[in-house]
Amino acid sequence: MLTRIRRGWELPESAATPESIYHERRSLVKALAAGPILLAGGGLLVGCDDPDQTASSMSPVSRAHAAETDPTAELYPVPRNETYTVERAITDEESATTYNNFYEFGSHKQIADEAQALPLRPWTVTFDGMVEKEKTVDFDTLIRQMPLEERVYRHRCVEAWAMTVPWSGFAMKALVDFAAPLGSAKYVRMETFMDPGVAPGQKASWYPWPYVEGLTIEEARNDLAFIATGLYGRPMPKQNGAPLRLAVPWKYGFKSIKSIVRFSFTDERPTTFWEDIQSREYGFWANVNPAVSHPRWSQADERLLGVDTGRVPTRIYNGYGEFVSHLYEGLQDQKLFM
Ligand code: MTE
Repeated sequence: MLTRIRRGWELPESAATPESIYHERRSLVKALAAGPILLAGGGLLVGCDDPDQTASSMSPVSRAHAAETDPTAELYPVPRNETYTVERAITDEESATTYNNFYEFGSHKQIADEAQALPLRPWTVTFDGMVEKEKTVDFDTLIRQMPLEERVYRHRCVEAWAMTVPWSGFAMKALVDFAAPLGSAKYVRMETFMDPGVAPGQKASWYPWPYVEGLTIEEARNDLAFIATGLYGRPMPKQNGAPLRLAVPWKYGFKSIKSIVRFSFTDERPTTFWEDIQSREYGFWANVNPAVSHPRWSQADERLLGVDTGRVPTRIYNGYGEFVSHLYEGLQDQKLFM
């Protein structure tokens, strides 16, 4: 059953408020605008976790792979790193490439067509802030300097859907080494492209564009943190975050920022996109934990994309605790699981 809620841009004229309470209203609008990701766990809203919109009935894989003429296509497939085995079946490619979250192109899941408008060349990546020397590098040059491999990872969205996919790319620690941060840098802040001309979602002023995410340097240097440049043995489809995105499988999916243009090293914890919208519900750490509910839904289990097996239990750190739990020792006072 679908329950209609009013979206931020549908506020009646009477909701317009004097400037004195503008900030209060802006918070409300931001919360309403965040509706899909906020309400998804309950499956209440069109465009969030609506089973009638699963990918099986949607566009063909061939359409999802407009990137086949990509100048880096000859680099794929890359050898698989077998360290990170999964006990789950790999999600079918059609589902993983047609059921997406990419708010720049719309606050629903069927943004694959819209995302084809994103121009991928030229694509430069800037490294700045607390680094030995700031630099901007062309993506096609950067990728050829990185140790490419494939990793099959589970992915757990905060909305309680999950997939298992073969990412191609490189360990983020190789990128951190390339950036050469100063010893005093504590965090890496990542930023998605900003171009409302091609990404209509970015015209919605109640979102704090561009999309921003962050990790501690220790998290970024952990071997599990991965910069994904490809999917299913080919360059990354635009809707999945081409040409480069983060994959941090022990965290909720919103941490895995897409279409990155900037890595900034800093000693201040960055405020992230969803934290800025609704800090009571989305935090900086966002580690997966089935025992800690989202304020408005349970995180105990999850729905696997593309199969009809019912819900399966969610695991702490999404099953990657042996690789990452040590990162959080001594941080028990922090909200590590939201
Ligand atoms: N990155 C950007 N720039 N914009 C987004 O809307 N959505 C996030 C994350 N990265 C998002 C993003 C969320 S909520 C999830 S679950 C994953 O991307 C979805 O990745 P997928 O579409 O490849 O499954």
